[in-house]
Amino acid sequence: MDKTILWTVFLVLIIQNVIAQNCKREPKCQISRVHGMKSADCFNKNFRSFPQCITSDVQVLDLSQNRIRKLDKNDLKRYQYLKLLYLNDNVIVQIHEDAFEGLNDLTSLDLSLNALNKVPPLVFQLPNLKTLYLGHNMNINIADSLESSKSISSPLANLDLSFISDGIPAVFPDFGNLPLLFQLNISGTEFENMSPSHFAGLCNLKYLHNENTTTEFFESCDCIKINKWLKDRKVEFKPFVCGSNLFECETDISEEDLQKYDQCKIVAEKYVRTIKINRGLIYAGIVAGIFVVCVALYFIYKKTNRIKPKKAKENNLLL
Ligand SMILES: *[C@@H]1O[C@H](CO)[C@@H](O)[C@H](O)[C@H]1NC(C)=O
Ligand SMILES: *[C@@H]1O[C@H](CO)[C@@H](O)[C@H](O)[C@H]1NC(C)=O
Repeated sequence: MDKTILWTVFLVLIIQNVIAQNCKREPKCQISRVHGMKSADCFNKNFRSFPQCITSDVQVLDLSQNRIRKLDKNDLKRYQYLKLLYLNDNVIVQIHEDAFEGLNDLTSLDLSLNALNKVPPLVFQLPNLKTLYLGHNMNINIADSLESSKSISSPLANLDLSFISDGIPAVFPDFGNLPLLFQLNISGTEFENMSPSHFAGLCNLKYLHNENTTTEFFESCDCIKINKWLKDRKVEFKPFVCGSNLFECETDISEEDLQKYDQCKIVAEKYVRTIKINRGLIYAGIVAGIFVVCVALYFIYKKTNRIKPKKAKENNLLL
């Protein structure tokens, strides 16, 4: 009996010691507060795998310019409070399907300048992800990554797909409905099969960065249709260069795509309304709070004023 207890204590001590030794070997990051968030600056520290010894309540983690090769299933498990994660400029070739599971606070993820050829579908389901950088991953197949995902449910507003093809044109991904997407960067990428339906579900797009984008279209007239569609919706972009023999093209958009666009608009408005209502509730809460404090102060003031005359009378009596 006593022996088992002794052995258990002994084993625990050994395990603790091993962890401590590993953490001693891990490069050190600078911890500070940035905009009220706990941040770890691990920029260019020669990390070769995802750190396991940083305080687990870190919210901003900058791991750019390291030598991380892959993300395993449990690598990020201890960091459930992450809001911003920078993994750009590493050598990541592989990310486990579930590596980002449970990161419900994550709003920004930078995976640019790596060697990925697939993004785990779960990324597109992160409930607060607004910014996703995937640029400069040669031959990353976004279309494929999206196919195995249901539909995108994260509220993406800013997506970077620049320089993701290397000689072979990439399939232009069908995002379905992305009602909050504001900015899409496809500069320097070579695409094939682009068609108006790809833009129908991007009903809030304001900026399409397409410098040096080369593309083939599903049908040659699609080039003219897309240029007109984007111009009519006041998107800032560089018009695609269309063939010179396209005088006969119709510019009408199919009924199906118009419906997709209307559907997208409805979802977007619903989202904006929810945000407005939430903001309204917060303001109402603040006003109610101020009102309660004022009422309380008023009663305290009244009470002290009622006591004072009494004291004066008592003083008079004493005199
Ligand atoms: C788009 O991506 C390219 C290449 O990564 C970059 O140089 C450019 O600044 C980006 N544009 C915007 C507006 O983010
Ligand atoms: C586009 O290509 C030209 C010529 O190769 C280059 O000078 C320019 O910097 C490129 N622009 C972007 C945004 O990559």
